[in-house]
Amino acid sequence: MRAVLGLVVTLTLCACRPAIIVTNDGIKDLDALDKVMGVLADAADPGFDIADGAADGQLTEPQLKQLAAIGGRVTLAANRAKGFSKGAGYDALADQLASQGRALTKAAQASDGAAAVKGATAIRDTCRACHSEFR
Ligand code: HEC
Repeated sequence: MRAVLGLVVTLTLCACRPAIIVTNDGIKDLDALDKVMGVLADAADPGFDIADGAADGQLTEPQLKQLAAIGGRVTLAANRAKGFSKGAGYDALADQLASQGRALTKAAQASDGAAAVKGATAIRDTCRACHSEFR
Protein backbone atom coordinates (compact mmCIF):
# COMPACT_ATOMS: atom_id res chain seq x y z
CA MET A 1 0.00 0.00 0.00
CA ARG A 2 2.77 2.38 0.94
CA ALA A 3 4.63 1.54 -2.23
CA VAL A 4 1.52 2.19 -4.32
CA LEU A 5 0.98 5.50 -2.58
CA GLY A 6 4.59 6.46 -3.22
CA LEU A 7 4.18 5.63 -6.88
CA VAL A 8 1.03 7.70 -7.18
CA VAL A 9 2.75 10.68 -5.54
CA THR A 10 5.76 10.27 -7.81
CA LEU A 11 3.63 10.09 -10.95
CA THR A 12 1.62 13.12 -9.87
CA LEU A 13 4.74 15.18 -9.21
CA CYS A 14 6.22 14.25 -12.57
CA ALA A 15 3.04 14.93 -14.53
CA CYS A 16 4.06 18.51 -15.30
CA ARG A 17 6.75 17.29 -17.65
CA PRO A 18 6.44 13.69 -18.77
CA ALA A 19 9.91 12.22 -19.00
CA ILE A 20 10.64 10.70 -22.37
CA ILE A 21 13.18 7.94 -22.03
CA VAL A 22 15.12 7.78 -25.25
CA THR A 23 18.24 5.75 -25.89
CA ASN A 24 21.08 7.27 -27.93
CA ASP A 25 20.03 5.04 -30.78
CA GLY A 26 16.42 6.22 -30.56
CA ILE A 27 17.25 9.92 -30.93
CA LYS A 28 17.42 9.75 -34.73
CA ASP A 29 13.84 8.41 -34.83
CA LEU A 30 12.22 11.19 -32.76
CA ASP A 31 9.30 12.56 -34.78
CA ALA A 32 9.01 16.11 -33.46
CA LEU A 33 11.43 18.93 -32.67
CA ASP A 34 10.01 19.59 -29.21
CA LYS A 35 10.80 15.98 -28.30
CA VAL A 36 14.35 16.35 -29.62
CA MET A 37 14.71 19.52 -27.56
CA GLY A 38 13.40 17.78 -24.45
CA VAL A 39 16.00 15.06 -24.84
CA LEU A 40 18.67 17.65 -25.59
CA ALA A 41 17.84 19.65 -22.47
CA ASP A 42 17.74 16.56 -20.25
CA ALA A 43 21.14 15.56 -21.62
CA ALA A 44 22.82 18.96 -21.53
CA ASP A 45 21.49 20.55 -18.31
CA PRO A 46 23.61 18.41 -15.95
CA GLY A 47 26.63 19.39 -18.06
CA PHE A 48 25.86 23.08 -17.57
CA ASP A 49 25.61 22.47 -13.82
CA ILE A 50 29.01 20.77 -13.82
CA ALA A 51 30.55 23.62 -15.80
CA ASP A 52 29.01 26.28 -13.55
CA GLY A 53 30.32 24.51 -10.47
CA ALA A 54 33.86 24.14 -11.81
CA ALA A 55 34.84 27.40 -13.46
CA ASP A 56 38.45 26.60 -12.52
CA GLY A 57 38.34 23.51 -14.73
CA GLN A 58 38.91 21.11 -11.83
CA LEU A 59 36.71 18.13 -12.65
CA THR A 60 36.47 14.74 -11.03
CA GLU A 61 36.84 11.54 -13.01
CA PRO A 62 33.06 10.82 -12.85
CA GLN A 63 32.32 14.37 -14.03
CA LEU A 64 34.67 13.94 -17.00
CA LYS A 65 32.97 10.65 -17.85
CA GLN A 66 29.57 12.26 -17.62
CA LEU A 67 30.61 15.17 -19.84
CA ALA A 68 32.02 12.78 -22.43
CA ALA A 69 28.66 11.00 -22.59
CA ILE A 70 26.76 14.30 -22.67
CA GLY A 71 28.80 15.45 -25.66
CA GLY A 72 27.82 12.35 -27.58
CA ARG A 73 24.15 12.77 -26.82
CA VAL A 74 24.22 16.47 -27.69
CA THR A 75 25.71 15.61 -31.08
CA LEU A 76 23.05 12.99 -31.78
CA ALA A 77 20.25 15.38 -30.79
CA ALA A 78 21.79 18.24 -32.81
CA ASN A 79 21.91 16.04 -35.89
CA ARG A 80 18.27 15.09 -35.37
CA ALA A 81 17.28 18.74 -34.80
CA LYS A 82 18.76 19.58 -38.18
CA GLY A 83 16.15 17.29 -39.72
CA PHE A 84 13.55 19.90 -38.72
CA SER A 85 15.28 22.61 -40.71
CA LYS A 86 14.19 26.21 -40.57
CA GLY A 87 16.68 27.41 -43.16
CA ALA A 88 20.41 27.87 -43.62
CA GLY A 89 21.01 29.86 -40.42
CA TYR A 90 19.26 27.22 -38.35
CA ASP A 91 21.16 24.41 -40.07
CA ALA A 92 24.47 26.15 -39.36
CA LEU A 93 23.64 26.40 -35.65
CA ALA A 94 22.58 22.75 -35.54
CA ASP A 95 25.89 21.78 -37.19
CA GLN A 96 27.77 24.01 -34.75
CA LEU A 97 26.07 22.29 -31.83
CA ALA A 98 26.90 18.86 -33.26
CA SER A 99 30.58 19.72 -33.57
CA GLN A 100 30.62 21.29 -30.09
CA GLY A 101 29.24 18.02 -28.75
CA ARG A 102 32.11 16.15 -30.39
CA ALA A 103 34.61 18.68 -29.01
CA LEU A 104 33.20 18.26 -25.50
CA THR A 105 33.54 14.49 -25.69
CA LYS A 106 37.10 14.82 -26.95
CA ALA A 107 38.11 17.27 -24.22
CA ALA A 108 36.52 15.17 -21.47
CA GLN A 109 38.09 11.95 -22.76
CA ALA A 110 41.47 13.70 -22.76
CA SER A 111 40.80 14.73 -19.11
CA ASP A 112 41.19 18.36 -20.16
CA GLY A 113 38.87 19.87 -17.55
CA ALA A 114 39.37 23.47 -18.64
CA ALA A 115 38.48 22.65 -22.25
CA ALA A 116 35.51 20.56 -21.14
CA VAL A 117 34.12 23.40 -19.00
CA LYS A 118 34.63 25.81 -21.90
CA GLY A 119 33.00 23.32 -24.24
CA ALA A 120 29.88 22.93 -22.11
CA THR A 121 29.56 26.70 -21.80
CA ALA A 122 29.95 27.11 -25.57
CA ILE A 123 27.15 24.58 -26.06
CA ARG A 124 24.85 26.66 -23.89
CA ASP A 125 25.70 29.76 -25.94
CA THR A 126 24.60 27.89 -29.08
CA CYS A 127 21.30 26.84 -27.46
CA ARG A 128 20.63 30.48 -26.65
CA ALA A 129 21.71 31.76 -30.07
CA CYS A 130 19.34 29.41 -31.86
CA HIS A 131 16.44 30.08 -29.50
CA SER A 132 16.75 33.84 -29.84
CA GLU A 133 16.47 33.51 -33.61
CA PHE A 134 14.33 30.45 -34.33
CA ARG A 135 12.27 29.45 -31.31
C1 HEC B 1 19.43 24.84 -34.27
C2 HEC B 1 18.53 25.54 -33.37
C3 HEC B 1 18.43 25.13 -31.93
C4 HEC B 1 19.44 24.78 -31.09
C5 HEC B 1 20.94 24.75 -31.37
C6 HEC B 1 18.84 24.47 -29.82
N1 HEC B 1 17.49 24.62 -29.89
FE1 HEC B 1 16.16 24.25 -28.40
N2 HEC B 1 14.63 24.81 -29.60
C7 HEC B 1 14.75 25.21 -30.92
C8 HEC B 1 13.43 25.49 -31.47
C9 HEC B 1 13.13 25.93 -32.89
C10 HEC B 1 12.51 25.24 -30.42
C11 HEC B 1 10.96 25.30 -30.47
C12 HEC B 1 10.50 23.91 -30.84
C13 HEC B 1 9.01 23.67 -30.82
O1 HEC B 1 8.34 24.15 -29.91
O2 HEC B 1 8.54 22.94 -31.71
C14 HEC B 1 13.30 24.82 -29.27
C15 HEC B 1 12.76 24.47 -28.05
C16 HEC B 1 13.48 24.05 -26.95
C17 HEC B 1 12.90 23.63 -25.70
C18 HEC B 1 11.39 23.56 -25.38
C19 HEC B 1 10.88 22.20 -25.85
C20 HEC B 1 9.41 21.99 -25.64
O3 HEC B 1 9.04 21.00 -24.98
O4 HEC B 1 8.62 22.81 -26.13
C21 HEC B 1 13.92 23.28 -24.87
C22 HEC B 1 13.82 22.76 -23.44
C23 HEC B 1 15.16 23.47 -25.61
N3 HEC B 1 14.84 23.93 -26.87
C24 HEC B 1 16.41 23.22 -25.10
C25 HEC B 1 17.59 23.37 -25.83
C26 HEC B 1 18.92 23.16 -25.31
C27 HEC B 1 19.23 22.77 -23.87
C28 HEC B 1 19.79 23.39 -26.33
C29 HEC B 1 21.28 23.29 -26.34
C30 HEC B 1 21.90 22.15 -25.75
C31 HEC B 1 19.00 23.75 -27.49
N4 HEC B 1 17.68 23.73 -27.16
C32 HEC B 1 19.55 24.07 -28.72
C33 HEC B 1 15.92 25.33 -31.64
C34 HEC B 1 17.18 25.04 -31.17
